[in-house]
Amino acid sequence: MKRRPVIAGNWKMYKTQAETSAFFSSFTPLVGAATHCDIVIAPPYTAIAAAVDSARGSKIAISAQDVFWEKEGAFTGEISANMLVEAGCRYVIIGHSERRQYFGEIDETVAKKTKTALGAGLTPIVCVGEMLAQREAGQTETVCRTQFTGGPGALTPEEFSRILIAYEPVWAIGTGKVATPEIAAAAHRFLRQCAESKFSTQAASSLRILYGGSVKPDNIQGLMAQPELDGALVGGASLDAKSFAAIVEGCEKR
Ligand code: PGA
Repeated sequence: MKRRPVIAGNWKMYKTQAETSAFFSSFTPLVGAATHCDIVIAPPYTAIAAAVDSARGSKIAISAQDVFWEKEGAFTGEISANMLVEAGCRYVIIGHSERRQYFGEIDETVAKKTKTALGAGLTPIVCVGEMLAQREAGQTETVCRTQFTGGPGALTPEEFSRILIAYEPVWAIGTGKVATPEIAAAAHRFLRQCAESKFSTQAASSLRILYGGSVKPDNIQGLMAQPELDGALVGGASLDAKSFAAIVEGCEKR
């Protein structure tokens, strides 16, 4: 099964609207000829409109970094899936480890958000991954299985066929400690097994799983050499147009 790679940038709480427009002015021409992968950028909410504007006419898709599960209502500070669609988003990141660690995200809310996002036509990028202490205690697979089962595993088969999963070991995020390609591939293989036992062989083999955690221009090729890796979710290195373009380019040379 040939799966089309995805390179997604998660800007977290970086970039104003002006910085977003400046990024696209340099980035878009650098990836203009790239047809080997899907390119996604997730700016903060306030820069989504600027990003959508700047990306118009290119193949770059815009993502949000989170979404709320209700359609509308008295939920101060939250943003609905339909609002994101109207703003021009095509993707949404759900269950990022920073949301889990600092903002009370749990598997149950991940599942609710994913269902709502799919209902609005967004493509969710659902994040899972263990913390350092959990890896050291030999709990990586248990944590991944639990997060899979409570989140993506709670979807219907049809819903599941429309999501992407990002495996992001928390110890590799923003630390410069990238997982070795073998460690990443083992976790991806495990998640694919979870998908197979919950859904089907077909669902598992068409599922795209991105790796995230200190992906840089100089390690993307080694990671992508693993057929289990279907792309990357990139934080820090997606903030700079040249380095993010180099990652897009590096993903081609598998
Ligand atoms: P990083 O972040 O590339 O800066 O490690 C990845 C992420 O949090 O998605």
